[in-house]
Amino acid sequence: MGPETLSHVLRQLPVPQDARLLVGPHTGDDAAVYVLDEETALIVTVDFFTPVVDDPYTFGQIAAANALSDVYAMGGRPLLCLNLVGFPTCLPVEVLGEILRGGCDKVAEAGAILAGGHTLEDDEPKYGLAAVGLVHPEGLWRNSTARAGDALILTKPVGTGVINTAAKADMAPPEVVAAAIELMRTLNAAACDALRGARVNACTDVTGFGLLGHAAEMAEASGVTLVLRAEAIPVLEGARELGAMGMFPAGAYRNRDWVKGRLAAGGVDDTDLLILCDPQTSGGLLASLPPDHAALALARLSERGVTAKVIGEVVPRRQAALELVP
Ligand code: CO
Ligand code: CO
Repeated sequence: MGPETLSHVLRQLPVPQDARLLVGPHTGDDAAVYVLDEETALIVTVDFFTPVVDDPYTFGQIAAANALSDVYAMGGRPLLCLNLVGFPTCLPVEVLGEILRGGCDKVAEAGAILAGGHTLEDDEPKYGLAAVGLVHPEGLWRNSTARAGDALILTKPVGTGVINTAAKADMAPPEVVAAAIELMRTLNAAACDALRGARVNACTDVTGFGLLGHAAEMAEASGVTLVLRAEAIPVLEGARELGAMGMFPAGAYRNRDWVKGRLAAGGVDDTDLLILCDPQTSGGLLASLPPDHAALALARLSERGVTAKVIGEVVPRRQAALELVP
């Protein structure tokens, strides 16, 4: 199901009416946020998927980092997690043990507690987490509050989708795959911590809708236009070449078709456009900050070993929610 039909189905559900629900389903944000008191809000999120790599331990790490990412995208700290597992009876149970060990290690690295979970029989393995995090209500980062004049920072390069697809077909060079794996299993914790030292107006993480999909959501929810500079957007080594060979996953084309009606792009070729629509696993944070705070954030990100780039800026709403310039 494409993003358009899926969002149509989700819109049929009743909208929850509760003043304590600071972030609900209607802004397409990363997680639900529920305020407990003046100092504390709960972040609640869930994410799980089928293996993106062969090694079960690595898959567990990646799936957990990806699920925790939505907590960081709200400016929060992960507190408590539960495993969500689908597993076929035909596979050795040791494989499941390795997946869970990878997830458990990643949750521990995040400083959170893995407190249980649920497993069911499934045709193919699936793994992920339900995660609860904490955030001060005033330190909450929505995706719907980007302001004209902001700079946009991206904290990880894109291209993991096309590399994963090529890896499954044995078409990706090992060093290209290794770099993508390293990136996917890297928590957005350091990026979040660095950004917390600056004034962040809005933030989201780049996952299944690709960079342009999530940027378009931020633009529409905020009532602004995001102008992205294609040349400034970091792309994983080897991703463009694999894309030019036609190795994009189906999701890249779906995302591009969804984004097209919201995008003004001149002088950007189709491969580059698809790279920017490539569905990401455990992608980086996309943060919108006043320009002087962006400079501070870049310095703090670099101190923590996070390679981040300014990839564009926010302007008052124009005809298209997104503009992509070469
Ligand atoms: Co997200
Ligand atoms: Co998510």
